[in-house]
Amino acid sequence: MLRRLHADQPASFAFTPANQAWAEAQMTKFPEGRQASAVIPLLWRAQEQEGWLSRPALEAVADMLGMAYIRVLEVATFYFMFQLQPVGQLAHFQICGTTTCMICGAEDLISVCQDKIAAKPHAISENGMFSWEEVECLGACANAPMVQIGKDYYEDLTAEKFSALIDDLAEGKVPTPGSQSGRYAAEPAGGLTSLTDYDAGKATYNASVQLAVDLGDTVKRIDGTEVPLFTPWLSKATKPKAKPIQKDA
Ligand code: FES
Repeated sequence: MLRRLHADQPASFAFTPANQAWAEAQMTKFPEGRQASAVIPLLWRAQEQEGWLSRPALEAVADMLGMAYIRVLEVATFYFMFQLQPVGQLAHFQICGTTTCMICGAEDLISVCQDKIAAKPHAISENGMFSWEEVECLGACANAPMVQIGKDYYEDLTAEKFSALIDDLAEGKVPTPGSQSGRYAAEPAGGLTSLTDYDAGKATYNASVQLAVDLGDTVKRIDGTEVPLFTPWLSKATKPKAKPIQKDA
């Protein structure tokens, strides 16, 4: 698929103050003169803020990092994690359509998207909430078929489960990511056949799902006000201020 800038572009882009502080903190991770190494996290945060990457957003990131615009465009057009056109206000579904997922039912998941969201990929649903696209292997083949929503993977899906998941999101719920068939991770679907005492001391969810549940931000836009900054390399004195994330009791 051709990945190019959207025809309709906003006039400008600016990080929110908290996201700006976060972005500047990311840049301190790299030695002087190597700030371009922060391009992916900064683009990702711009996308988390706006939902997609506009030309002004790419240019703002390039200016911050001292990069030529074309270099940032190359990154944004190479990785399909970056959206180059507006997406659904609530969620954009990336359906893996590569071999394993296709054999295990990805086409059924795409049919659900066509029924419930829009007939064509990248079109936005009538209610403005959702959009979808087919993507290449997302590296969760052992839990096929799967869908990425925001930062999180939803695995071992069926058409029925995926349809219910879309309904839940529409109702404002944040479904638990990970396997939707009850698997802990990528163990055999029929259960463990060896290391069967592995359960001892196991957390409720695997590490990636547990983090997603703790953060609870699968489909939220991030304006930076509720997000921990993850900048332990900065001293307290220079650390930008942001409210800690609110966790459910
Ligand atoms: S084939 Fe779908 S995650 Fe690899």
